Amino acid sequence: MTHKTIIVQSGGGYDRVVVGSSEARTPSFGEIQVRLHANSLNYHDFIIVSGAWGLNEDRIPMADGAGEVVAVGEGVSEFVVGDYVVSTFFPNWLAGDSQEEGFGSVPGDGIDGYARELVTAPATSFTLAPKGYSHAEAATLTTAGLTAWRALFYDRSLKPGDAVLVQGSGGVSVFALQFAKLAGAKVIATSSSDEKLARLEALGADHLINYRKDSCWGETVRRLTKGRGVDHVIEVGGPATLQQSMIAARVGGHISVIGILSGVEGQFPLLQALSRQLCLQGVLVGSRMQQQEMVRAIEANGLRPIIDRSFALEQIVEAFQYQESNQHLGKIVLEF
Ligand SMILES: NC(=O)c1ccc[n+]([C@@H]2O[C@H](COP(=O)([O-])OP(=O)(O)OC[C@H]3O[C@@H](n4cnc5c(N)ncnc54)[C@H](OP(=O)(O)O)[C@@H]3O)[C@@H](O)[C@H]2O)c1
Repeated sequence: MTHKTIIVQSGGGYDRVVVGSSEARTPSFGEIQVRLHANSLNYHDFIIVSGAWGLNEDRIPMADGAGEVVAVGEGVSEFVVGDYVVSTFFPNWLAGDSQEEGFGSVPGDGIDGYARELVTAPATSFTLAPKGYSHAEAATLTTAGLTAWRALFYDRSLKPGDAVLVQGSGGVSVFALQFAKLAGAKVIATSSSDEKLARLEALGADHLINYRKDSCWGETVRRLTKGRGVDHVIEVGGPATLQQSMIAARVGGHISVIGILSGVEGQFPLLQALSRQLCLQGVLVGSRMQQQEMVRAIEANGLRPIIDRSFALEQIVEAFQYQESNQHLGKIVLEF
């Protein structure tokens, strides 16, 4: 039996996205079979689907997949048929420090991903989803949720009362805002839109800055923190924002270098990094164990992800065009 599958043909690009089919084998030792029901969109998936980085073979896209276990192979004790599960970004990074560089093992990039109705994969490619979550909600966690969780709680653990700066209203930043509020932090949020800022305020942001109207927002952040600066920056803008982020951070502050929204190369203010003793940590999502800990925290606190809009699987190109338009706040999902 074949199952509906999105395939990005070699080279990539919206005109090379086709609806095809794939088969899923019976699970072998250590594997599970999952009936997938949702994906969520990330900038990384956009790069693959839009062909921005090129693809040298056909690829099933999408790193974030959620669904229900329908078969369990021998040797799997962690899952039973009927469990709701969500994929992991790095199927081979189970715990501890990552031993991998880049995206060679990442579903939807180095290997086939989850834009398909059925998949058979090693059980370690999934974790349980938070109890009570829909598949669409669970699918938001793999990339954006875990990146925000790991940045705030692993590389330098956030404390109640810390100040956190989040940039823009995309998937990672909105999760970071929600997690930071869970931990009792103060949050300063930036956005290009006053309307989106009002929605970020409703989600708990303590201070709001429109970065289009205030290009020196780093100084504004310092004023808002009585000259001290923030303890933690969720840096998603890249070259266009790093300098202001370094101004916004306190002496000894932590900057999670996460995003490349404005490109991948730019000037680095070395003197500022030295004189302010800043800690810049490159972040690439997180481990399976960190995902399990995030799921526990979500269950304990009842956190729900912010889903902006849902599309059908076949509308994947339309969904990415919507993401490109920057109208969204939080996550965009595909449901099937
Ligand atoms: N390293 C990792 O592990 C990791 C994981 C996930 C994502 N990322 C990266 O993080 C970035 C954000 O990902 P995402 O999935 O959250 O994206 P997203 O949902 O598409 O969010 C994009 C939003 O960012 C804001 N934005 C755009 N340009 C900006 C700029 N120059 N300064 C400040 N904000 C800006 C906009 O919000 P407003 O309209 O409110 O201004 C925009 O809607 C991407 O570069 C992505 O590749 C990295």
